[in-house]
Amino acid sequence: MCGIIGYSGPKEPLPILIGGLSRLEYRGYDSAGVAILDGEKLTIEKKEGKLQILKDHLENSKINGNIGIGHTRWATHGVPNDVNAHPHSDNQKEFAIIHNGIIENYAEMKDDLLKEDFIFESDTDTEVVAVELGNQWTGRLLETVTNVAKKLDGTYALVVTSTKEPGTIVAGRMMSPLVLGVGEGETFLASDSAAILEHTNKMIFLENGDFVEITNGKFKLFDINMNEISREIQEIDWKVSEAEKSGYDHFMYKEILEQAEVIERTISGRLEVGSEEIPIDLNKAKGFEKIWIVACGTAYHAGLFGKDLFEKVLGVPVSVELASEFRYREPIVGKNDLGIVISQSGETMDTIAATELLKENGSHVLALVNVVGSSLARMADSVFYLHVGPEIGVASTKAYLGMLVGQLLLAKHWDSEGKLDTSFDEIKQLPALIEKTFECEDQVKKISKSINEKNDIYFIGRGLDYALAAEGALKLKEISYLHAEALAAGELKHGTLALIEEGTPIIVTASQHHLLDKTTSNVQEVKARGAYVIAVGDSSSKKLQDISNDYITLPEASEMLSTVISIIPLQFIAYHVANLNGESIDQPRNLAKSVTVE
Ligand code: F6R
Repeated sequence: MCGIIGYSGPKEPLPILIGGLSRLEYRGYDSAGVAILDGEKLTIEKKEGKLQILKDHLENSKINGNIGIGHTRWATHGVPNDVNAHPHSDNQKEFAIIHNGIIENYAEMKDDLLKEDFIFESDTDTEVVAVELGNQWTGRLLETVTNVAKKLDGTYALVVTSTKEPGTIVAGRMMSPLVLGVGEGETFLASDSAAILEHTNKMIFLENGDFVEITNGKFKLFDINMNEISREIQEIDWKVSEAEKSGYDHFMYKEILEQAEVIERTISGRLEVGSEEIPIDLNKAKGFEKIWIVACGTAYHAGLFGKDLFEKVLGVPVSVELASEFRYREPIVGKNDLGIVISQSGETMDTIAATELLKENGSHVLALVNVVGSSLARMADSVFYLHVGPEIGVASTKAYLGMLVGQLLLAKHWDSEGKLDTSFDEIKQLPALIEKTFECEDQVKKISKSINEKNDIYFIGRGLDYALAAEGALKLKEISYLHAEALAAGELKHGTLALIEEGTPIIVTASQHHLLDKTTSNVQEVKARGAYVIAVGDSSSKKLQDISNDYITLPEASEMLSTVISIIPLQFIAYHVANLNGESIDQPRNLAKSVTVE
């Protein structure tokens, strides 16, 4: 949430900042701003609204300099407007600061500063830090920033520059991600590696409490007490083109269509028995007493799918938990338990806190994450990377599929008794199967026209299909703003059936053969109340086909893989409904990618 970019080196900073912010806009898009330092001249420009407004504003301006920092905002404190946009300044306009995270004790700090006659222009917590920097100047920027950081409660990735020390940027992090890009005689800063990938693939992922002092393109790392430290440089193998729209109207659409290719990478090298890419072997897996799958949003929905698989193959109870709830209750976690934390970004605040809880209780933590070097990847005892490349669309698609396939691979490796109705040979064919599933798109486009004007849409399914239904409903509501709800099909008659009337769209996922008759009966019940039924299943579901208004036929596959590919028509439904309604698909209102605040 909120995007950060910074540059120090021989090039003009402004184009680099604007390029970086364009790649970061998915992290927040209610305002954006830049600060450029040219010797002792500090220029700050910021605008409410999408980045394009700032770009238009800066189009003919020539702001030269040797240092620059930029920010795209997802509002926490204060409404989105020009004044609340970052960068913020101290009272003398000598410091410029950008910040991700939340300073929890900002009100107390502000009261103290007000008593000393400092003034404030904005409603943000960040401005308090800027004013405090002006108040605490020690003669060295690094010392001033670390001193102020010691007073802060909460979370931050801070980037600061000042006319008092021209040529220097100081940055630091506590719980909010910050990446250093190491170039030839130049250094970049970003909240997200994809933002600077076009300049360098050499990255340092700062740890909590790390600070960096960058002067004339060169950097030194310190802890909060200004002791020099070192961190490993990692090479990121993502392709720049993966972080670009490449002619598509939307990242989300591009990412849906990339799924065959990226799943090839998820499964690559992981299909052989004994593969070293599988971080926990069968013997170890069998020894766990309980499994906790903990995640948020889409990743949580992926966990619902994993639960049934792991219980089936290991005979170990599995609990799927929302990280935001799990972290604040007192779950009975034991040292012989396995925590599986699932996250695209690896930076979701609630999932990180839940991981800490699991570790404090002595359980082994396995992270299924996409972003290499992310906080969760570093905290976990074992890591399974999804390898689906950068996901820019706020609505997760390819990462979700990667999470399903990742869990399927783990479960298959732990399936000593052949309980899952799929084989490594069949999983190898998954990319081709995904490609074939794309053929339903034209049909989905037509179906989308029948639901784009409805206000309430219900997704139903049983077993693993219910897990998919939950994700289908979330996808639709987050980008189309229509109310969508997922229900276990058998739950309808316990209340929600009261809402079904003539023409209410019901989207049914029915890949689970052993549950087909039961699901079909539930469909009969909604049909009897006039519902408009759109079903997704394979060609064996004759009865369901006959009673559905529209039937999307999946290509032939085992039941397990049919479930996995069933998400594709649901992703297309969400995309095409939102597109018909002209919604801002990659930047849905009120949302942003990578939820690094509570
Ligand atoms: C929805 C979506 C979110 C994320 C959630 C967790 O499309 O993307 O629900 O799944 O914010 O994010 P990660 O996976 O980064 O932990």
